[in-house]
Amino acid sequence: MRMRILITKDYEELSAKTADLIAAQVLLRPDCVLGLATGSTPVGAYRDLVEKYENGEIDFSDVKTVNLDEYCGMRDSDPQSYHYFMNENLFSRINIRPENTHLPDGTASDVSRECESYEKLIASLGRIDLLLLGIGNNGHIGFNEPSEGFAVKTHCVDLTDDTVRANKRFFSNESEVPRKALTMGIGTIMMAETILLAASGASKAEALKKALRGPVTPEVPASILQLHPNVIVVADEAAFG
Ligand code: F6R
Repeated sequence: MRMRILITKDYEELSAKTADLIAAQVLLRPDCVLGLATGSTPVGAYRDLVEKYENGEIDFSDVKTVNLDEYCGMRDSDPQSYHYFMNENLFSRINIRPENTHLPDGTASDVSRECESYEKLIASLGRIDLLLLGIGNNGHIGFNEPSEGFAVKTHCVDLTDDTVRANKRFFSNESEVPRKALTMGIGTIMMAETILLAASGASKAEALKKALRGPVTPEVPASILQLHPNVIVVADEAAFG
């Protein structure tokens, strides 16, 4: 295991460091495959990456991306969808080719087929060079919720009440929060060459502590990262506890 932990003063510094690491990957391998997350944590890093692009520091024209997850039943045009989030926060603001960006299709009628084809797509890209992860208050990564076993491949999940509550801030009320999502599996995540786990704020402290220092258990899905050979954790002081 090789886990490097970078502790930052606050969210702004965490965002800058995260963007620096992603930019470094793109500079090292201009045709790299980036695995990307949505949610609040990466918003600042995406903003900083856009700025680096605008300053001529990075070129995304050969970069490919695969996102971790998408809500079931959400069309790309729905402002709450992760497709929409990625376009708003990053893709439409940089020179990445739309055909090089990928997210699971939450509207697929045949869900298991969509999961299989997403898995095949990731395999066809070769490997994920750098995968950015956030962490849920309950220790989830992607939407791999605490459970009795680690789900290996891309699959459909029932979101826990915890996650639905945490995500309701993006919706006008809790009843609108989707209860199902498609997510990369733990196996898919663990195949990434390098994993960059970002955590900000005191609400993540407990989950991060369990993930980094607790037993490896599917009850804390992020704890599996202890077994990955190349993880970088970027956490602000509040999240590091
Ligand atoms: C999002 C994802 C989730 C989030 C996690 C933290 O694509 O896969 O695992 O990273 O729920 O979300 P935030 O950053 O909103 O606290």
